Amino acid sequence: MLNVGIIGLGVGEQHLIGFKKLKAIKDIYIFDINKKKMKEVSKKYNGLILGNSAEDLIENTDIDIVSIASFDQFHCRQILNALKNNKHVFCEKPICQNSKELNLIKKKLTSKPNLKMTTNTILRTSPRFLDIKNKIRKKYFGEIYYIELDYNYGRLHKLVGGWRGRIKDFSVFLSGGIHMVDLLNWFLDSEVDSIKGFSNDFCTKKNKLNIKDNAVALVKLKNKVIVKLSCNFGCVYPHFHRVIIYGTNATYEQSFSSEYFFKGRPNVNRKKANTEYPGVKKSGLIKNFVESIIYDKPLTIPKNEMLKAMKICLKINEAIS
Ligand SMILES: NC(=O)c1ccc[n+]([C@@H]2O[C@H](COP(=O)([O-])OP(=O)(O)OC[C@H]3O[C@@H](n4cnc5c(N)ncnc54)[C@H](O)[C@@H]3O)[C@@H](O)[C@H]2O)c1
Repeated sequence: MLNVGIIGLGVGEQHLIGFKKLKAIKDIYIFDINKKKMKEVSKKYNGLILGNSAEDLIENTDIDIVSIASFDQFHCRQILNALKNNKHVFCEKPICQNSKELNLIKKKLTSKPNLKMTTNTILRTSPRFLDIKNKIRKKYFGEIYYIELDYNYGRLHKLVGGWRGRIKDFSVFLSGGIHMVDLLNWFLDSEVDSIKGFSNDFCTKKNKLNIKDNAVALVKLKNKVIVKLSCNFGCVYPHFHRVIIYGTNATYEQSFSSEYFFKGRPNVNRKKANTEYPGVKKSGLIKNFVESIIYDKPLTIPKNEMLKAMKICLKINEAIS
């Protein structure tokens, strides 16, 4: 049996729901700097143990897993401390905020090869994207030569009124675009050759947050595929992952009002996508993470792929600055 400590109870409450379902989990400790929230959550679920601080959980020798869902700026320190204390780590994205922090995490992970760590880039569990991944594997698209992946956040209030907008140099790519970067890595498994990027701040400039709320990167991969990645936090648009994949034999388009596979030339056949989208739960990766600890099952988001997505986002940040 394993014991888990959860830090931060916004999306962390979903981590809690995920862990609670598993027979392999015995005790669940929780901590939130917002005491009111911690009390509310502790009343909703039976048997939770309340911590006194994040460190209290991280350094507790009874705890095997630390699940981090605090604000972004705390992730790196909490991860390093958890690994130092020999805990397996499930951490919300982004796992850190800059290259220096990423190198520290990488080094610490290398020094603790028996510890499992993953991150919550959850779109790999979406039935829609699993179907696309499967089609790519079966060469449905032929040779893919161009992809567009847009993260339309559409939740300006969370940037302007919440903690995100108060983070110095808040990066929309690290915060949200990373979901699309992770999809790209999963779909194509190629390395980045070069990146050109642009950004602006039309949606938040009046709020003086000094945040590039809209960022676009053109990426050339080593396999010569061209990718447009964009991350649009201020858009008047429902929260949505816009995806277009062009291959030599077929195209897929997912925009807000439609999602189709196109096939055939010169007469193009149109087939409606029939898989669920997004169809994900924020707790969707917890079971796999715990099974990786108990049975050494491969992680859905392996450590190297978690680090790779972070590295690409940081490179995009350099290109757009
Ligand atoms: N994977 C996803 O799809 C997804 C979705 C939403 C948020 N997130 C990530 O989850 C994290 C939390 O975001 P959220 O939307 O839940 O925010 P939130 O504001 O809803 O909740 C965060 C909670 O964590 C607490 N907290 C913050 N720092 C803490 C610390 N150092 N110690 C203890 N408690 C702390 C806050 O008091 C708050 O209750 C962020 O990193 C965010 O990027 C991921």
